[in-house]
Amino acid sequence: MPACVSSQATALKGTAKIPGDKSISHRALIFAALASGESRIEGLLEGEDVLHTADAVRALGARVARDGQGGWRVTGVAPGRLSQPAAPLQMGNSGTGARLLMGLVATQPMRVTFIGDDSLSRRPMGRILEPVSLFGAETESAEGGRLPVTITGTGDPAPQSYEVPVPSAQVKSAFLLAALNTPGISSLIEPLETRDHSERMLAAFGADITVEQQQNKDGTCGRRIEITGKTPLTATKIIVPRDFSSAAFPLVAALLVPGSDIVIPGVGINPLRTGLLEILGHMGAVIGIVNQREEAGEPIGDLHVKSGGLKAVTPDAALAPRLIDEYPLLFVAAASASGTSVFRGLGELRVKESDRISAMVAGLAANGVAVEELEDGLVIEGCGGILPGGGRPPGGGSVAAHGDHRVAMAFLVLGAVAQNPVTLDDAAMIATSFPGFIELMNGLGCRMVQQSAAGVSRNER
Ligand code: S3P
Repeated sequence: MPACVSSQATALKGTAKIPGDKSISHRALIFAALASGESRIEGLLEGEDVLHTADAVRALGARVARDGQGGWRVTGVAPGRLSQPAAPLQMGNSGTGARLLMGLVATQPMRVTFIGDDSLSRRPMGRILEPVSLFGAETESAEGGRLPVTITGTGDPAPQSYEVPVPSAQVKSAFLLAALNTPGISSLIEPLETRDHSERMLAAFGADITVEQQQNKDGTCGRRIEITGKTPLTATKIIVPRDFSSAAFPLVAALLVPGSDIVIPGVGINPLRTGLLEILGHMGAVIGIVNQREEAGEPIGDLHVKSGGLKAVTPDAALAPRLIDEYPLLFVAAASASGTSVFRGLGELRVKESDRISAMVAGLAANGVAVEELEDGLVIEGCGGILPGGGRPPGGGSVAAHGDHRVAMAFLVLGAVAQNPVTLDDAAMIATSFPGFIELMNGLGCRMVQQSAAGVSRNER
């Protein structure tokens, strides 16, 4: 297990070129696999999660070729013409890949088994099995709706209407994929808007999809989506923006480490992904977004971040879907801010790649941060940040990543700001979403030292 020690950084400077967006990369491969003709993808994230999806769509009959760094070509097979995979689909650590593909195979006449690593095998799949069985698919799973999951798709699906019980872009996308090969109009309601990459990309591939925003009584917004199945998809070019969820790590590190000033170019700034910017704004951060443009239906921009003191925050839980993957890092920001932050309504964090509430509580406490665990969130006593008279989190503790890439990266950022080094038990899984993270952070001025199996350090600046 390669451990990693992260020590206080002096200042982060320079330009951070972040890898491609994970959510958009999965979708690009999957939708291209269903489109007639050859789609070209630029900027694909070549992290382990996405590579599992590439293998899976290949096993389903699509032709997938890599031209060079991030450049891929996919020749699709129309839905209904996909081939029966010869073996179970190995999805590794990837909830998104597994769940979206379960939706896809639900309305194909084939029987497909999904397997994954330990972390994925602990995550609930019932939330997908319910909507896919509405279409007529038969599902089998291990106890508690876990992997291995086997789906026997139906060759004769009927259109469905469904209200998503948990705000989840994965459930929404699985439903849309099942509906794609179903004659007639299927409709879905999501009570709170979640990332809409599937809707945007399906439209770009020529799907017949309409989206209507619906205002809830409490002022929050949901959506009603209608999709007409059996409309052929046509190959297109997809330029994958750099991943905001990955950019968040150097961004927050730069905010917290005094004297920092960095630029993060070409990052996806889809408003359903950038809730973190809003919350950090409430905490007092000033983050510039310049050169805003659109590529392949997704808004992108260059982020300019300078260090600045943060104050505590108590975010509205209705914002959660817009920053769901950024909470571990936001907890680190709160631990470095002045005042007490209260996070509630975050039960979903317990079923991510790890139980992110208990993982973060344990690691923050091990580094001298006063933190209280709640059933659906946590309370964090900030250490004062870099405000005049404030302090940094003590640090000096050992933390467990629990096989969770975002927990791992959040604690390495904590080490960059804390008084004493933070030791992470295992940094290997960071490659699922952010290959080259340690090198990139060290290039900006961090001091993250990875231990090889032989105990010799590498990646030091
Ligand atoms: C994702 C949706 C989110 C997010 C995950 C990626 C997606 O999961 O946490 O990392 O690409 O659709 P949920 O749909 O479970 O909220």
